Amino acid sequence: MKVNGKSTQTIWLSEDKQNVQIIDQTKLPFEFKVVTLNCFEDAFKAIKNMLVRGAPLIGVTGAYGVFLAAKENQELKFIEDACDYLNSARPTAVNLSWALNRMLQKAFDSKPFNIIENLCNEANKILEEDINFCENIGKYGCEIIKDLYNKKKRPINILTHCNAGWLATVDWGTATSPIYKAFNDKIPIHVWVDETRPRNQGSFLTSWELGEHGVSHTVIADNTGGHLMQNGQVDIVIVGSDRTTFTGDVCNKIGTYLKALSAHDNKIPFYAALPSSTIDWNIEDGKNIPIEERNNEEVSMIRGKNKIGIIEEIQIVPDNTNVKNYAFDVTPSKFVTGIITERGVCSASKASIANLFPEKV
Ligand code: MRU
Repeated sequence: MKVNGKSTQTIWLSEDKQNVQIIDQTKLPFEFKVVTLNCFEDAFKAIKNMLVRGAPLIGVTGAYGVFLAAKENQELKFIEDACDYLNSARPTAVNLSWALNRMLQKAFDSKPFNIIENLCNEANKILEEDINFCENIGKYGCEIIKDLYNKKKRPINILTHCNAGWLATVDWGTATSPIYKAFNDKIPIHVWVDETRPRNQGSFLTSWELGEHGVSHTVIADNTGGHLMQNGQVDIVIVGSDRTTFTGDVCNKIGTYLKALSAHDNKIPFYAALPSSTIDWNIEDGKNIPIEERNNEEVSMIRGKNKIGIIEEIQIVPDNTNVKNYAFDVTPSKFVTGIITERGVCSASKASIANLFPEKV
């Protein structure tokens, strides 16, 4: 997608193929900063401290982390331990363990003389796949927006939560991919962007990337969606996912569930857009998905630019207040109209998902 009119992706191998470069997302939207990952500890910290975030991008960064680990030490035991360590960076997005398992398998299948090259190629392959999968999600999801436009014959209002945009993947995004495709096809659309407290991925990241691409959007406080839905101002909700069970329960950024309930009550279609790397083929019930709890300061403090242009962080609760910070919630499949994947759209059910991915069951 575009930054300053220039095609950009979130992660890439450096020109000399020795290091990995990322956009430091903790600095957006106020600063565009590129950071170099030189070792697997750098990759771990980038994931843990959310310089990179979003399920697919965490997976791709983890994959490059294994390549960087192999450059430090090619022994299989070292690489295996590095995978365990990288996997502990964040618990909810299943894309991380999915990518690490794939890299570890590649390490086991390699010979000492070609292990670094093989791991580099595998990470590149995971990156390329992510771009293709997300672009296909856009193609299928755009048809849904097109159908709505043909019925309503007026701009389509889409609500999204968190950042399931290109910043959360390598390019295109998941929830935003249908939006970019519709925009590129000149279908009139407008996006309601949930601010997404506590980390504000919506107001900081989604609004930034939609703005860079020229997509009309409006940031709303997280509590606004229900009111908009009751008043006919939302035609469709599209969100991403960090882990979706093979039965269709969708785990995504905290607050997604409330939007799904509201959409259900107002008979508004609610879609989750996700690549198959986000499907957990071992978990049947969404209640068993591990939910990350993060630092309480993300809730008690807020970051922003003050009136004289200085970025600062301020406290927004009384001193010594109890705070809890769950990062994700689970939307049961019964509230999900459909799942948009790289192979097409299916309903949020075991049979329908299995129908699209027969080789996984
Ligand atoms: O905590 P984050 O910012 O990593 O959470 C991101 C989300 O919840 C996204 O909606 C999800 O990863 C889907 S990304 C295409």
